[in-house]
Amino acid sequence: MAGNWKMYKTVGESVALAEMLKEALAGVGDRDIVVCPPFTALYPVAEALKGGTIKVGAQNLYPAEEGAYTGEISPNMLLDMGCQYVILGHSERRQYFQESDQFINDKLQVALEHGIKPILCVGETLEQRGEGRQKTVVSMQVERDLQDIPAEAMKGVAIAYEPIWAIGTGHTATPQQADEMHAAIRANLCGLYGERVAQGVCIMYGGSVKPGNVDDLMAQPEVNGALVGGASLDPESFARIVNFQP
Ligand code: PGA
Repeated sequence: MAGNWKMYKTVGESVALAEMLKEALAGVGDRDIVVCPPFTALYPVAEALKGGTIKVGAQNLYPAEEGAYTGEISPNMLLDMGCQYVILGHSERRQYFQESDQFINDKLQVALEHGIKPILCVGETLEQRGEGRQKTVVSMQVERDLQDIPAEAMKGVAIAYEPIWAIGTGHTATPQQADEMHAAIRANLCGLYGERVAQGVCIMYGGSVKPGNVDDLMAQPEVNGALVGGASLDPESFARIVNFQP
């Protein structure tokens, strides 16, 4: 269960949110919980969450050790800040920063080489769904983004199915739509890596997940987790989402 804070919250606001979540979720031991604050708040949030059940992720990384890449953040810098996860290929990055599948694949390789667990986001636009191409589009993203990633590395990879038309719009995919796409992604992984590896990959749903719809989404057999944007900015609603009851 992961919260993507996007470009919200100052350091002070982030630490306050992290502290509230740490307390609210202290007793939760049967599910992985991750928060992904903006880069500026990663270190103080990781410090605030020390000794608790919540892990920290970044929202991006640059696929190089170090170098003259003005404005970018390396995998070692993320590790240095206590980061264990990274969101890669989010549709906002694909759309606003022209990130290609090749670039996302580079980032995935580098993240895994450094022991940072990627949450790889894939998903179709409303137009692509209207044309009935959602499975083709998503399967192409999965195959290109995972190119040359070996089977043994897949236990560190989570995939988030995030239909673009559901992100930040209040329009959630129905539990059945989510389950059907997750099953298609699982079948894709099965083709690439075989049944055993495919069954072990956590496939999360993202796109307007809220306290009111999380239980039904998580009740679907192919939905293994949630990547939450807007509703993760409020401690009560994120705590409720993490404590889903399928
Ligand atoms: P949302 O965002 O929950 O605000 O729709 C999800 C995401 O972009 O990860």
